[in-house]
Amino acid sequence: MSDRLFERGNTPFADRDALSDHYTPDDLVGRDAEIKQYTNYLEPAVWGEDPNNIFVYGKTGVGKTATTRYLLDNLERDTAEYDDTNISSLHINCDGLSTSYRVAITITNELREPHNQISESGHSTSEVYNRMWEAIDNLAYDPDKPDRTNIVLLVLDEVDHTETGEDSILYQLSRAGENNTLEHARIGVIGISNDLTFASSLSPKVESSLCQKKLFFDTYDANELQEVLRQRAKIAFKDDALRDGVIPHCAAYGRRQSGDAREALDLLRAAGDIARNEGLETVREEHVEQGIDRVQREEVIEGIRTLHEHSQYCIYALATLEAEGATPSRTRGVYERYELVCQLAGVDSLTSRRVRDFLRELSMLGAVETHDQNKGKGGGQFYEFELAHPLETMVTALDDMIEDVGMHSSIEEYT
Ligand SMILES: Nc1ncnc2c1ncn2[C@@H]1O[C@H](COP(=O)(O)OP(=O)(O)OP(=O)(O)O)[C@@H](O)[C@H]1O
Ligand SMILES: [Mg+2]
Repeated sequence: MSDRLFERGNTPFADRDALSDHYTPDDLVGRDAEIKQYTNYLEPAVWGEDPNNIFVYGKTGVGKTATTRYLLDNLERDTAEYDDTNISSLHINCDGLSTSYRVAITITNELREPHNQISESGHSTSEVYNRMWEAIDNLAYDPDKPDRTNIVLLVLDEVDHTETGEDSILYQLSRAGENNTLEHARIGVIGISNDLTFASSLSPKVESSLCQKKLFFDTYDANELQEVLRQRAKIAFKDDALRDGVIPHCAAYGRRQSGDAREALDLLRAAGDIARNEGLETVREEHVEQGIDRVQREEVIEGIRTLHEHSQYCIYALATLEAEGATPSRTRGVYERYELVCQLAGVDSLTSRRVRDFLRELSMLGAVETHDQNKGKGGGQFYEFELAHPLETMVTALDDMIEDVGMHSSIEEYT
């Protein structure tokens, strides 16, 4: 056997990175209607007219960000030949920018040279805002071309993560055109959100400014997902590396995950990884199946790690019962074991009603399977519970907690 730990072997991939979320495709498939509408909304900018504020919304993974980047790249490139208008765009992700102050600093620093950044704190709000307006105003201003119209399209992606009140920067940015806040630039704001209730949660004034035009991105159907996957697979995999059923299988999975292209692409990559781990050059449907298990396992593990600690104790209790072959188990059985886990952890146990609620929540998360036992007249109705995933997966998900609480003898062999 070779004594090397790392060695390149066979691979089905030509360019695996093309399946990552950061990759921007050159062309978009399956979004014709959205692209047509979006292009219409962007049309005034082409003519050097006041740009629309556009609000783009739809569920996660339906191409909102990808389409926006694609269209703005094309818009900037295609209008470069018109001397009387300049279009520049800036893409900001508001995730983590909960205050208007942080949004303004981020915009300013994105527009400034690396050696000229402003610090994250220590400024008054008005000072930061002034610097931001100055940076936007100067973005495309050229003193040699005083008559040129400079249009700035500001994309605020995941806009629901930031402040949205009537004194927020979001509102001021969406009103800047009307208020003549800027001297040299005309600004259009493009807000993007996967929160379908976001627009209706805004005050009427903010909503009417930010959402002058609204664009809804529908979920992908299985055929559209196949198109997306095929286009990406051409770049990411070697010729003939995918067996026939692989793409339809990944697309069907993406469709089940509410038409999410990101999930479908992630699965295709996971299937490729599994094939590569096996030293193969071709990806088969069985690799997709294993990929689904892996992706779902990771989701459950992530989900469990963020749960309330007593909810984790419940699932720990259920895991120990399962290890003893005592599942499906009724609420009372789970509760008794849960009390034991609490004793081990040295904390007071909660009521059995709370435990029932936790079990319901765990069932919704997909960590626990609930069986509704209806024994008809006289037999009554009750629920039984068991783990929805293999014990090893659950023990991995709970490892931090088990370390704190201590190991129950029944699960020792699963760690
Ligand atoms: N029509 C498409 N053609 C090619 N690739 C696409 C298409 N739609 C989505 N993708 C790819 O799917 C992934 C998810 O798309 P995107 O990031 O645009 O979703 P989103 O709607 O912005 O989701 P979120 O709300 O979670 O931010 C990206 O990797 C993107 O490149
Ligand atoms: Mg996005």
